[in-house]
Amino acid sequence: MSNRGDSSVPLLAGRDLVKAHGRTEALRGASVELRAGEILAVTGASGSGKSTLLHCLAGIVRPDDGAVVYDGVRLDRLPEKRLSELRRTDFGVVFQFGQLIPELTAVDNVALPLMLGGADRAGARERAGEWLERFGVRGQEELRPGELSGGQAQRVALARALVTGPKVVFADEPTGALDSLATEQVLTALVHTARESGTAVLLVTHDAQVAAYANREVRLSDGAAVPAEVAA
Ligand SMILES: Nc1ncnc2c1ncn2[C@@H]1O[C@H](COP(=O)(O)OP(=O)(O)OP(=O)(O)O)[C@@H](O)[C@H]1O
Ligand SMILES: [Mg+2]
Repeated sequence: MSNRGDSSVPLLAGRDLVKAHGRTEALRGASVELRAGEILAVTGASGSGKSTLLHCLAGIVRPDDGAVVYDGVRLDRLPEKRLSELRRTDFGVVFQFGQLIPELTAVDNVALPLMLGGADRAGARERAGEWLERFGVRGQEELRPGELSGGQAQRVALARALVTGPKVVFADEPTGALDSLATEQVLTALVHTARESGTAVLLVTHDAQVAAYANREVRLSDGAAVPAEVAA
């Protein structure tokens, strides 16, 4: 059954998530829900488990315990092949530490997810160029990641996450390297996308001004998520 049309039912939910890295218990029973069209800010101290939570919800890392339910499907139980297919069609991820492909130019990095979905190169590059323009990195299309500034690379990564029109965008500190103008540009584009396309956005940030763009905020503390107003 699909939940996409019903905004009262979460599109994505993590329930009682537990995840350890070696002896570090990054998540100890964290629960969060994300609705279509909603921007949810996830905040918390450095090391509180924000990236771990994002990776579990995005199906990149399997939790040790608990459930991840996306559109009625248990992601944590999905075979790897179906999981990566679903991630390609439905999710866009901006990693905290880059992960652009160094050999490809900016525009080809953004075009790649479209081409993996079957688009032809010329069409994919054109749409990629439009997203780069939206994020203010026109003119850097043919540069490789090593030739981009940190903020330019971050915006290329955002364009790559959004270009396929995903149902959910997972963005891990997507504005960490940006000045205030570029931050505003990027967040405005995210808010637009959420409103226009019903895209759900999980926005990890340590910046209260960035979190202010969200509809709701949860804070991670001791490996569990609490509503920000309770945590404050
Ligand atoms: N691959 C790993 N191996 C071992 N420990 C890890 C690994 N990844 C994360 N951790 C540990 O898990 C805890 C949570 O890390 P996580 O990266 O989720 O935090 P975070 O809230 O995203 O922090 P930051 O704000 O600094 O990005 C930390 O104590 C960290 O040291
Ligand atoms: Mg992190």
